[in-house]
Amino acid sequence: MNRADRLETMMDAALLTTEPILDYLAVAAADRAACVQLLEGTPGPAAVEVIAALRTSLCAGVSELPVLVQADETDWIEAFLRFTPELLCWHAERGIADEVSRATLADVGRNLEINRRVHGRFGMDTHTWLIHHFTGRLYQLGRLQYLLHRGAVPAAGGGIPGAESGDWRLGIHIPESGGLDPETVHASLDLARPFFTRHFPDQPVRIADCASWLLDPYIAGYLDSDSNIVRFANRFTPYGHPLDAPTDAVYFTFRTRSSDPELASLPRRTSLQRMVLERIDDGGCWQLGFGYLELP
Ligand SMILES: CC(C)(COP(=O)(O)OP(=O)(O)OC[C@H]1O[C@@H](n2cnc3c(N)ncnc32)[C@H](O)[C@@H]1OP(=O)(O)O)[C@@H](O)C(=O)NCCC(=O)NCCS
Repeated sequence: MNRADRLETMMDAALLTTEPILDYLAVAAADRAACVQLLEGTPGPAAVEVIAALRTSLCAGVSELPVLVQADETDWIEAFLRFTPELLCWHAERGIADEVSRATLADVGRNLEINRRVHGRFGMDTHTWLIHHFTGRLYQLGRLQYLLHRGAVPAAGGGIPGAESGDWRLGIHIPESGGLDPETVHASLDLARPFFTRHFPDQPVRIADCASWLLDPYIAGYLDSDSNIVRFANRFTPYGHPLDAPTDAVYFTFRTRSSDPELASLPRRTSLQRMVLERIDDGGCWQLGFGYLELP
């Protein structure tokens, strides 16, 4: 995109009205009225404070960790809605393609929809996750999301090349948006390094890491070796020691927050559902596995 196109995009973004903002954020029909109310009402003081923190973090660049403001989840949603045009300008200034902005920000609508499934109402109990998107450090490229980060490794034992010396890396995240077939994953991984090299030249990346229940070593012994999940996990070199995370597998598979779910009432239709529940039935504990890979 040349400078003139970029500026036009910025001006369009600055002029965004309610409906285009909700389209950027892929807000589903069920959540639109509540979002319109938040966007078109008088700005709440807590949302204003959150916006100021997002702005400070965005201007400081990705090296500064964002400050977590104490506000309730509705204030956070309001702040995300109101801050969208400013974030889009920032994306445009960096030359980030509109389709990447849309794919990235669609996580807002997705998380509102998931919240509705989990709690049966408007809200976003995952709002802290969206801070990464709104401080310019996370992007969805094809099937996967990539978080620009560095620093200590979360797993006891360590072992990611360059982590100790503070090298930047990309945290891989898997949004709930279809399967993980190897071609789609491959295509996404191919996009990652060129994108960050172009738009974040001061933070060179070579390694991507992933911390997920999908990397729990238990899965390889249960699902077929040619299942998408096992093939995804096999891309990573394990490091550190898996950590107990009893609720992740249940939350991501069944979208319930209960730490002691009514296991008998949950469906066992797919091999994944059966695997998650049978391990708990047997007294086992789901874990967070850790791995890294060299970016193509
Ligand atoms: C991870 C995910 C993309 C895997 O999708 P996939 O490509 O369909 O995976 P596989 O093909 O290996 O599926 C293996 C089995 O799990 C089932 N399955 C996959 N995702 C499922 C889900 N969300 N709920 C129930 N069953 C699921 C498949 O139907 C298949 O069952 P079958 O053998 O009975 O046919 C999907 O589970 C998902 O979107 N999860 C939520 C997001 C998530 O967990 N992110 C990680 C956060 S750390």
